[in-house]
Amino acid sequence: MHSLSDLERQILMKIKPSHDEYRLILGSFEKISDVIKAVLAENNISAEVTLQGSVAHDTWLSGDWDLDIFVLFPEKWTREDIEKEGFRLLLESAKRIGNYELRYAEHPYIRVKLGKVEADLVPALNLSDLSATKTSVDRTPFHTKYINATLSDEQKDHVRLLKKFMKAIGVYGAEVKTHGFSGYAVELLIGVYGDFKSTLKEASTWQPPIFINTMGESFTKEIKDLLLSRYPDSYIYMPDPVDPRRNLGASVSLKSLATFILASWCYMRNPSVEFFVETIEPSLEDLVNILDKRCILFVIYELPEALPPDVIWGEIQRVSSRLSNYLEIFGLNVVDHSVWSNGKDIAIIGIELESCWLSSYKLYRGPCISHEKERITNFIQAHLGKGYGPWIDRDGCLSSLDRRRYTDAVELITSRWKDYSVSPHLKNLKPTVEVASKDVVIDLLMKGAGAWLSEFASKMPKWMEKCIS
Ligand code: CTP
Repeated sequence: MHSLSDLERQILMKIKPSHDEYRLILGSFEKISDVIKAVLAENNISAEVTLQGSVAHDTWLSGDWDLDIFVLFPEKWTREDIEKEGFRLLLESAKRIGNYELRYAEHPYIRVKLGKVEADLVPALNLSDLSATKTSVDRTPFHTKYINATLSDEQKDHVRLLKKFMKAIGVYGAEVKTHGFSGYAVELLIGVYGDFKSTLKEASTWQPPIFINTMGESFTKEIKDLLLSRYPDSYIYMPDPVDPRRNLGASVSLKSLATFILASWCYMRNPSVEFFVETIEPSLEDLVNILDKRCILFVIYELPEALPPDVIWGEIQRVSSRLSNYLEIFGLNVVDHSVWSNGKDIAIIGIELESCWLSSYKLYRGPCISHEKERITNFIQAHLGKGYGPWIDRDGCLSSLDRRRYTDAVELITSRWKDYSVSPHLKNLKPTVEVASKDVVIDLLMKGAGAWLSEFASKMPKWMEKCIS
């Protein structure tokens, strides 16, 4: 096992929770757990209140005060019992604990706030073994047992470092928003490669698609083939050791994977603090300077009702890709596009074009004299009266210079919004389209989109400078 460098030790000191934080987090768990236990007793239900996720694995980061509390109901309960009765009992508990909101992932759960600590209360089944048909919620207690049985305390610190590294380069989190690695996937990577540096060393040589043997000797060719056929579009395959039919790498996009591979390579060459620093919001003045003389546009949707984060991020990503393809069809060169949401009721597409304007006429090249006459006459018919031409050029081929319907990207995006706003919750919402300006930047900063805007506009991640020196 590689020991930590001075830099890594310094980073670890900052990201490892302090004793006070442990007291706060574990004390909050006790308080919440006592309330739930009282509600269960009053209702004559016997269920286990358990701590799961990174706090139970002891791989959480300082300042991340999120608890995953799973209440495990008897194995004989049906899924409906869990969703109705289990959920009702947790809701009753949440009302006694503090502020709460209802959430929905694969099935409903509740997020409660106790001071600065947030806890997800999740009703699940108390299974003795994991049959293949259960949901991801039921796998979680098995993950906790697995991680605590396989990772040493030292390796858990290496997990913290790798999580922080991935956060800083923007690839941590399996949600739709990030398309990166889940905390559990990070834990398994450290388990497979042993430590932080060995993981980065391996990752720096990856060529997608990648298979990672997360199962030691129980990994078989059948598992590999099954994952390949169940997840044909994945770039990285990591079977879940507690349920090998599931690919833990399914959430990772090619962009996230490529970012992790390159950042790992650069870190191995030139380790530096930049690889552990998350985007800092620049000043208004800096942002306005960066945006100057470029064609950066924002397409802003304000939703009438709050939606779950995965839904809204998924929909805005789809619309963003659609808009980008749409603009290319009209002859606009798209430099980049990216999305941001507050995870509730605002969704924004940022799109940069090489130019916000197109020339008034577009050149079309047609068939040549050696082609069939029918193709030639069709071309003449299609272009006649559309501008200037058709004419025969020096190579004996037809050309035509036709007037463009749109020459202004803003006008095109504003008026044709129905053509690209194609997702279920955005399709009837007319977006506002803004050209990047000081006022727009102020508005985006107020909405909380500053870090995103900075990354989108400044383009090169800070750590990339370290790839060459
Ligand atoms: N989980 C999973 N797959 C995911 C996300 C979560 O299996 N894509 C399960 C894992 O069992 C994980 C648990 O849900 O241990 C809690 O996940 P989450 O709260 O999202 O993250 P943590 O692993 O707790 O990591 P951290 O809070 O440090 O980001």
